Amino acid sequence: MTTAKELKRNDLIWPKEGESRIPYQVYADQEIYKREMESIFRGSTWNYLGLEVEIPNHGDYKTTYIGDTPVVVTRDTDGSIRAFVNRCAHRGATVCMDKCGNAKTFTCVYHAWVYDTKGDLKGVPFKNGVSGQGGMPEGFDMGKHSLQKVNVDTHLGVIFGSFDHQIEPVQDYLGEKMCDYLSRIFSRPVKILGYQRQLMKNNWKLYFENVKDSYHASLLHLFFSTFGVNRLSQRGGIDLDETGRHHVSYTYGSLNEDTEAYKNSNLRSYSSKYNLEDPSLLIGRNEFADGITLAIQSLFPNMIVQQIHNALAVRQLLPKGVDSSELVWTYLGFADDEEEMTKIRLKQSNLVGPAGFVSLEDGGVGELVQKGIVGGEKELSFVEMGGTGVESQPFRATESSIRGFWKNYRQFMGL
Ligand code: FES
Ligand SMILES: [Fe+2]
Repeated sequence: MTTAKELKRNDLIWPKEGESRIPYQVYADQEIYKREMESIFRGSTWNYLGLEVEIPNHGDYKTTYIGDTPVVVTRDTDGSIRAFVNRCAHRGATVCMDKCGNAKTFTCVYHAWVYDTKGDLKGVPFKNGVSGQGGMPEGFDMGKHSLQKVNVDTHLGVIFGSFDHQIEPVQDYLGEKMCDYLSRIFSRPVKILGYQRQLMKNNWKLYFENVKDSYHASLLHLFFSTFGVNRLSQRGGIDLDETGRHHVSYTYGSLNEDTEAYKNSNLRSYSSKYNLEDPSLLIGRNEFADGITLAIQSLFPNMIVQQIHNALAVRQLLPKGVDSSELVWTYLGFADDEEEMTKIRLKQSNLVGPAGFVSLEDGGVGELVQKGIVGGEKELSFVEMGGTGVESQPFRATESSIRGFWKNYRQFMGL
């Protein structure tokens, strides 16, 4: 239990400058973390759970999380998608221990209570006791002991879950603009090319900020700017939804253009002396009619959709305590891709993931911040690149989408 003294110590008063200052305490405070799980992840948000293509058949299931709460997602016998908390209604044990599979029922190993694919309780061993002794009390109603149900909605084959059963439909939550960006990838049937998991020793928000941070991309990532995959001098911008909680950072253009700004800036992240031993890594196809070659979309609070040339992926962000988090990467192609295209996507996917030529650093900088803020929890970060407001901008030397995240964070957290 939190004592009054602890509450006072942890109480957070947001700086008067607003979203352009972040108190480092929010990345390190256990009480704040607990409040986030309650007010954001178990609050009025839609959380990415998976893709319909992962559970195509009746009885298919996968286990995942909303925030740090364990959840099972199933394809029910009538074809609909269900989700429930993976916590036995008897004494709280994890019911389903596999990552994915196919089952008609789920049996808790502890005392063998049985649940169906809706999460409803269907069997309790020794319910009537043994030889007339013991058993559940009279009036025990199995209907009152289901697994906790999670509200489910889908859009373009993407499955979202919410603990709020009154929340607006997911399409409204995302807004028209974000749905349009989502449809760049999900308006066609997709296929899963593989998964990777990445543990990071940093608070979940440090990664979500990183994803919204278009400023760092070509400075931190040597590979991006050295080989021209993404430079701030390329045409691009950031697009926010009306609330500022979701965002897209987009870049137009082809490889190896606009080198001048980088050549003349003496940046660590640009060098003309390196060449790829195998240039086929970056040889791809222009497949999107809008000409965007790089689009990173973040959907509050836990989903990231990625197009880096032909490398397509969803990243699911899972908080794992105040100073650690996990990223689940799902690599995608289109169902009708021919073999050659799948090869291109897989090859380009070497850019991302836990050891990716580019993403490696994103996993590292969060940890650098987590380490750097120790002892400075009352200090503030400075987020004024591109102004102090929260708006879409036709350039990427900005931190506007980071401020959009904090604006919404404060609303959800009442800060
Ligand atoms: S805890 Fe699951 S059956 Fe007892
Ligand atoms: Fe990055």
